[in-house]
Amino acid sequence: MRRGEAKELPDRVADRSAAVAVLGLGYVGLPLALTAAEKGFRTVGFDVSRRRVEELLSGRMGVKTAGEERLRKALESGLFRPTWEEAELREADVFVICVPTPLDRYRRPDLGYVRSAGEAAARALRPGVLVSLESTTYPGTTEEVLVPLLEKTGLVAGEDFEVCYSPEREDPGNPRYSTSNIPKVVGADTERGRRWATAFYSALVSEVVPVSSCKAAEATKILENVYRAVNISLVNELKVIYERMGIDIWEVIRAAATKPFGFQAFYPGPGMGGHCVPVDPFYLSHKAKSIGVSARFIELAGKINRDMPGYVVERLGEALAERGKELRGSRVLVLGLAYKPDVPDTRESPALAVMRKLKRLGARVEYYDPLVPEMPEEGGLRSPRRSVESVEGAGPFDAGILVTAHSSFDYEALYRALPLIVDTRNAFGRLGDPEGKVVKA
Ligand SMILES: NC(=O)c1ccc[n+]([C@@H]2O[C@H](COP(=O)([O-])OP(=O)(O)OC[C@H]3O[C@@H](n4cnc5c(N)ncnc54)[C@H](O)[C@@H]3O)[C@@H](O)[C@H]2O)c1
Repeated sequence: MRRGEAKELPDRVADRSAAVAVLGLGYVGLPLALTAAEKGFRTVGFDVSRRRVEELLSGRMGVKTAGEERLRKALESGLFRPTWEEAELREADVFVICVPTPLDRYRRPDLGYVRSAGEAAARALRPGVLVSLESTTYPGTTEEVLVPLLEKTGLVAGEDFEVCYSPEREDPGNPRYSTSNIPKVVGADTERGRRWATAFYSALVSEVVPVSSCKAAEATKILENVYRAVNISLVNELKVIYERMGIDIWEVIRAAATKPFGFQAFYPGPGMGGHCVPVDPFYLSHKAKSIGVSARFIELAGKINRDMPGYVVERLGEALAERGKELRGSRVLVLGLAYKPDVPDTRESPALAVMRKLKRLGARVEYYDPLVPEMPEEGGLRSPRRSVESVEGAGPFDAGILVTAHSSFDYEALYRALPLIVDTRNAFGRLGDPEGKVVKA
């Protein structure tokens, strides 16, 4: 309990006198901060990127999701204050850390952002507060990395303040689910920590799922993402085998999915993208290695999925050869630069890997993605700089590769405009391919 403060955190949550600070205003932190403000909490959104804060203060979301209308209302209510001034954290009763957890160039966890956000929280730490880590990471991070940073203040976790871990389950671009209607797993190492964390998150979301420790909550998130990574790699492997046997994996999955129990459909693709599924499993495999256990499934899934862009390009080379053409010198259009449909996010997008591979093999590469009009700098490609404005206008192309099936694409028009299409998502399947132009890969 805070010195001179009569009420415990759950009571201050209930009467909304508790102030919230969200550290990191990206894909995860911003929707959470907006939800907290909408639920009546004074909410400071702290981000080290001044540019990001200025963008939000002027009512713009940038490429990140969640509606600008929500942002405008939250700013107008006076309850949401984005800032780059660390001093504004001093009032907070609940700190929620939503900063990036990338891999470094050796595919090892980079906890630098978590450490620096933890240090900022430590500088503002007072008795009676709750610190929640939401960044995806390996089991043990909260206890082994975050708590020691916070305890450097002389305050003791579980006695003077509480700590919890609560993984984020945002699904950008999915209109059915947002922060408030996705069940939220919350783990803490003390009974009081679980009670405080449950009280706080119950005020924001419709369902809280408490677990017995921070580690269990961290492991839950990793399980969810390893499950996706392994199953996607499995169908990708089957796709390659079945293709050599003349079997269409899409037809097979459609049939298998009619089984009413014991089967969940996963779909093949050109590789895995996004910030989570290609990255998070390696947080666990790194941790496993450090305790002398190997995470064989995770490593194998990563390898299979990383091989997919090469496989797709190989299929294009074969299809061109069958038509008496060579990949070298061919003009190839990549359809969809984002890593998933209907979002502008290109992080780890397999489209970038496909384009790099095509260029290395001498193809002339362009891309079409109305959601990503400019090539992002982190894509590692100096050209092309921009999306073509229209496929018909920029043609003729020797081939197209459908990497991401945006719902805004006019598939009939693309089919008419391109002489050969390598389709990694079965997006052209429903057109029936009357002219024999489509190769699934
Ligand atoms: N994007 C998703 O869909 C998603 C889903 C589930 C979990 N996650 C996890 O959530 C975490 C955050 O991901 P994101 O997609 O929101 O990242 P993001 O890159 O969109 O945003 C992170 C923000 O944190 C800011 N930041 C960096 N260091 C900071 C610090 N020390 N203090 C304050 N702000 C800081 C950055 O400027 C940036 O604006 C990651 O661990 C990620 O794995 C993301």
